[in-house]
Amino acid sequence: MSTHTSHSPAIPPTTVALGIDIGGTGIKGAPVDLASGDLLADRHRIPTPENSTPQAVGSVIAELVDHFDLPPEAPVGVAFPAPIRHGVIKFIANLDKSWKGVNLEDVVSQAVGRSVSVLNDADAAGYGEALYGAAKDEDGTILVLTLGTGIGSALIMNDVLVPNTEFGHLEMNGGDSEKEASAVSRERNGLDWDEWATGPLQQYFSMVDMLLSPDLIVVGGGVSKAHEKWLPLLRDISCPIIPAALRNNAGIAGAAAWAAGHIS
Ligand code: BGC
Repeated sequence: MSTHTSHSPAIPPTTVALGIDIGGTGIKGAPVDLASGDLLADRHRIPTPENSTPQAVGSVIAELVDHFDLPPEAPVGVAFPAPIRHGVIKFIANLDKSWKGVNLEDVVSQAVGRSVSVLNDADAAGYGEALYGAAKDEDGTILVLTLGTGIGSALIMNDVLVPNTEFGHLEMNGGDSEKEASAVSRERNGLDWDEWATGPLQQYFSMVDMLLSPDLIVVGGGVSKAHEKWLPLLRDISCPIIPAALRNNAGIAGAAAWAAGHIS
């Protein structure tokens, strides 16, 4: 970290945008002050519809938009747990497979009648951490990894995001690395913090460190709250590894900032 020169993040031209984070159990949103990344109102959460068809999710998002008193020009940014190219979901690992091929940007724009941009959930969290959180003012290659049901990744340099990296699906021991090293896999495989950190997590972090040589690794997801239990156990990683700062709000802040920078 000490080798980086500091720089100012680009402040998007609008001042407020709505950030929305779609997850397996809940769809959460809040208006975001784009200068600070702070939420301008309490987050509102609506359970993800059981039959989470694109139309059902579009209606939930419209409900979220209506819940807040937003300026008419405020854009909407949506984070979704899959790689997304030009609004279209490429494949989906941990939600209903029927989302594959859906143009999420079109679905949401039609439901809310505003400028909408969609991006991968880890990309949104990473972008949020780079602009407003743990990696603010850091130059160099920043790798943000979110440890949850799967492993999400974001690769950012000077606030420029290279989207859809999907490093949670790097092959490890002949399988998908997120199946061994994610936070949910730790529970599923009955590993305590020590066994997880010194086993699959160490192997995973050593692999991404070797492949990418980042200047900084930021770790997010629910387990980042308990980082004292496992982060200090990781060894021989060639750059600093720090916990995320924005926690649950990183995806909302990042999606809002992304939308402000991509107004259509
Ligand atoms: C998905 C990614 C997502 C990550 C975290 C992975 O299984 O493929 O797109 O970012 O889980 O939700």
